[in-house]
Amino acid sequence: MGKKKAKCIGILTSGGDCPGLNVAIRGVAKAAMQQHGMKVIGILDGFRGLVENRTMRLDQAAVSGILTRGGTILGTSRDKPHKMPMGGELRDMTAVAVENAQRLQLDCLVCLGGGGTQKNAYHLYKEAGLNVLTLPKTIDNDVFGTDITFGFDTAMTIAAEAIDRLHTTATSHHRIIVCEIMGHNSGWLPLGAGIAGGADVILIPEIPYDLNVVAEHLLERQHSGKRFSLIAVAEGAISKDEAKALEASLEKGKKKKKKKDSESVKADEVGGVHLVQEPMASRLARSLQHLTGIEARVTSLGHVQRGGIPSANDRLLCTQFGTTAARLLAEGQFNVMVAKRGMECLPVPLKEIAGRRKDVPLDHAWVLSALDVGSCLGAKL
Ligand code: F6P
Repeated sequence: MGKKKAKCIGILTSGGDCPGLNVAIRGVAKAAMQQHGMKVIGILDGFRGLVENRTMRLDQAAVSGILTRGGTILGTSRDKPHKMPMGGELRDMTAVAVENAQRLQLDCLVCLGGGGTQKNAYHLYKEAGLNVLTLPKTIDNDVFGTDITFGFDTAMTIAAEAIDRLHTTATSHHRIIVCEIMGHNSGWLPLGAGIAGGADVILIPEIPYDLNVVAEHLLERQHSGKRFSLIAVAEGAISKDEAKALEASLEKGKKKKKKKDSESVKADEVGGVHLVQEPMASRLARSLQHLTGIEARVTSLGHVQRGGIPSANDRLLCTQFGTTAARLLAEGQFNVMVAKRGMECLPVPLKEIAGRRKDVPLDHAWVLSALDVGSCLGAKL
């Protein structure tokens, strides 16, 4: 890794979109152009655009007026350079991606994305020597090595507001309302929004729940005169029994994978564990209605959480991430992720980040606060 200062950079957005992507693109591009005299090229639709050589020039006009716009002006995809669906099969397009980056004369490829993107960017650097720099984006807040990811604050605000709204109707009808919030593997979003919205029960993937503990909590509330309950549940929350079944399936999957090492094993693809067959909130609501005798309803927030304008906090964070990235590129610091630590943004080697996930630790301050205000987390902790 040299210290050659970047003169020409490419930017791509990869993985699920979120509010703040355009702010980050703007932050990198404006600072790179205005402060460091770089040329900036936008790569369309994530790593697929790099492979298919689809780009746009990011000049002053292109990054003007996008501060409040949701989504990403570059488009995004979940494609991986080394396992890209091409003509009905998965192909390793790493060499093509690197060839195209060279043809564009990129000194560094700036990749804005979540955990998968960190891995893909690291792959391009490690396996093919392409200089990369990443920013941590995801509403899930689960990228390793950074205090916070961008997109999280906006999504949490949207989810908390939804819980507020559900509260009034749950109260009027004396119902349980189960609100499903995004987060397949990590529960930062439902936990944060659940606390902010005063949810009575918060279920996250890190804490497999016991249905009886939840039902008891709801009945206790009813006996104490509270005739409604709000449940914030992560889309990836699982019961204790499911957690056990999943573990066993993953073990089986790992053994299978050793035999046929072609595709990655996903928790919801192995052993018939039914995490994605029916939204978990519906199953949960049905079971709780049955156990408590209280009428239950379900709201799944879905992609509403990822849409629309970024919050002021996210705008600030993305601008700080973007301008720090430009500064690092101007210094020739590559193959790092820009992380937020306290008030600072600083570079962390990608090899320390790639392939790791930041889950909610069970002794996290938010977990303790949730318990202290009487929220049930689905298990006796
Ligand atoms: O990675 C962000 C995220 O919004 C997750 O919370 C969610 O599980 C997933 O993306 C949904 O992905 P898609 O938009 O591809 O359905």
